Amino acid sequence: MAVEKAVAALTEAEARQELARLADVIGAANAAYHTQDAPEISDAEYDALKRRNAEIEARFPALKRADSPSDIVGGAVAEGFGKVRHEVRMLSLENAFEDGDVAEFDARVRNFLGTAGRIAYTAEPKIDGLSLSLRYERGVLVQAATRGDGEVGENVTDNARTIADIPQRLQGAPEVFEVRGEVYMSHPDFAALNERQALTGGKVFANPRNAAAGSLRQLDAGITAARPLRFFAYSWGSLSEPLATTQFGAIARLAALGFQTNPLTVLCAGPEEMLAQYRRIEAMRASLGYDIDGVVYKVDDLSLQGRLGFRSTTPRWAIAHKFPAELAWTRLEAIDIQVGRTGALSPVARLAPVTVGGVVVSNATLHNEDYIAGRDSRGEVIREGKDIRVGDWVQVYRAGDVIPKVADVDMARRPDGAVPYVFPHLCPECGSAAVREEGDSVRRCTGGLICPAQAVERLVHFVSRSAFDIEGLGRKQVEMFFADAVLPVREPADIFTLEARDTANPLQKLRNREGFGEKSVTNLWAAIRERRRIPLARLIFALGMRHVGEVAAQDLARHYGSWEALVAAVDLARPAALAHRAADEAELEERAAAAAEGRRVRAKEARERAVAALDVPEESAAAWRELITGDGIGPVLALSLSDTLANAEERASVERLVAHLEVLPPEARATESPVAGLTVVFTGTLEKMTRAEAKARAEALGAKVAGSVSAKTDLLVAGPGAGSKAKDAERLGVRMIDEDGWLALIGEA
Ligand code: IVH
Repeated sequence: MAVEKAVAALTEAEARQELARLADVIGAANAAYHTQDAPEISDAEYDALKRRNAEIEARFPALKRADSPSDIVGGAVAEGFGKVRHEVRMLSLENAFEDGDVAEFDARVRNFLGTAGRIAYTAEPKIDGLSLSLRYERGVLVQAATRGDGEVGENVTDNARTIADIPQRLQGAPEVFEVRGEVYMSHPDFAALNERQALTGGKVFANPRNAAAGSLRQLDAGITAARPLRFFAYSWGSLSEPLATTQFGAIARLAALGFQTNPLTVLCAGPEEMLAQYRRIEAMRASLGYDIDGVVYKVDDLSLQGRLGFRSTTPRWAIAHKFPAELAWTRLEAIDIQVGRTGALSPVARLAPVTVGGVVVSNATLHNEDYIAGRDSRGEVIREGKDIRVGDWVQVYRAGDVIPKVADVDMARRPDGAVPYVFPHLCPECGSAAVREEGDSVRRCTGGLICPAQAVERLVHFVSRSAFDIEGLGRKQVEMFFADAVLPVREPADIFTLEARDTANPLQKLRNREGFGEKSVTNLWAAIRERRRIPLARLIFALGMRHVGEVAAQDLARHYGSWEALVAAVDLARPAALAHRAADEAELEERAAAAAEGRRVRAKEARERAVAALDVPEESAAAWRELITGDGIGPVLALSLSDTLANAEERASVERLVAHLEVLPPEARATESPVAGLTVVFTGTLEKMTRAEAKARAEALGAKVAGSVSAKTDLLVAGPGAGSKAKDAERLGVRMIDEDGWLALIGEA
């Protein structure tokens, strides 16, 4: 394609010509998408064309054509929505439930910043809708994206353009300007929509949030346009210049630019005023006319927000104070047992349907067998010891998005003849023994790979969004392929042979089956092929090993760098891992024996004897120590990893999988930072920031922060009063700088 002239440099005549050309090209692309299976341009190219068209129209409003592509909705997206990578991640919020949590939040903020004085916060309603990020370039709305997984969302630009609260053009906004907020539906609009839907045989929505989500995520933006959606702005992403110096000021700026901001947003001088605003908003909740599920507090000073920064998925400078859960009473009709990915047997309450806070609930969790019997995980009495029986009237409660829970039992209404629930000791899915390990509240199926329920759940986890994220393979398809005689998928490796097996089978093609077609099968093969190259962290997480979550997977990936290195290290550490388990068992036995005999515990000696008896080679012990030094990687997780890779069948299954993959090494975080990849130790007194802030900042810049100096340390940051660590550094020849030197190094002096 010829190099395009910048919009700012176009003459009026050129602009008119360019708009005509764009109307043609975009029109042709729309037609191609609707009539052909293979559109000629990519979604990204299409978006770029539409963006250019919108920019020219913004500069020359008088030249806008009657057939302007900006007014044609619903063209761009093939097979679902295009994807948008957020330049600035869209985060979620930590939750507070009690007043004490709010005081604690304030204390944590002050602690982190090392301030004794008061901190100001904004308080505003937490809108129960779905978040949306709107990007404006030079005052023109060019893109709207849903939150998605926080990193990649869906491109819903055409749909967002139909929402009246969302301006298409802005006066006086920063050149690049991403505003974020919540799309929601008001109570009266929701009621009217459901009435219409019921009359026309359409989908009736359970609550306003579902209705808003269902309306925004419409492939046909014409449908979105007919739905009464609204938008409150409360936050921002990429900005070419700051909006203000405070949160409160930034909200005022958003309002001045023409966005709806929530009128109940106030500035508070500290926890007392925050709680007072919470009470005020809670009292108004029922009369607001839209759903809210709590109050959000944010540190007002934006430079302090910057210093506080983020944890993996939530900011340190904000918290959501949720309203108490909603309750209802209903009859427990049955207790079913579900078997999870790691074999856990989870009891599920089947309930006579009941409305809890506007949502019909017919299933709720019963946690585990102790919970049903009236005890908590430590064996202590709960609900005054009342057990839960089939036929009972039970109290169900629901807080926000979480799975509803059975909270209480009405003994006065217990039917005659109700019998205590007997928790199964055999897996209901495969018949294997289901056992409870010492100290575990959960009973687990021991069937491992032979248990079909575990196998299906593992596959579902494997293809899920945070794991392999294979589009077109969800629970429904996984269950189908698992039970399939023609194209069975029993373990992850089978996913990568599907296409070849289907190609080799001339008679029973997948594309001829119900629910599939030429196009969806082509797309599925492409989606699977795309995932043959997979980042190491995703692979580790996708294996679904007990205790190994996303954060640990990332940590392991960063630390070991390759699949081979990780496996070699875990293998080497195996003898030490077994010694660790033996020592744990010896310690437990010793404690029990000591308690029974009323003598002093000599657990430490028992541990040492157990370890000595196994005679662990030093290199294995060193590999084990290295394995458990990672952030959040303790012995329990390391043992789970070790057990999985030491199990012959599991190991073979993983190796069959890895043979199909190209495993990508972790991207170095923040490579442009001068401290990326360095191991840094802080010691002595820091004067310009707290230790916690220094550590968080260093980690955000890609450094690893260690607690003690070793040969692996790259840098010691020593404040006044540094003692033995400075000596160690000197002895080992580790580079040493003071706090100002550190700030200069990271460019913050
Ligand atoms: S601030 C970095 N403010 O709640 C913080 N979020 O549970 C960004 N939400 O994903 C969020 N009302 O969808 C913020 N006044 C408000 C909100 C709000 C609703 C939603 C938002 C977010 C979720 C987190």
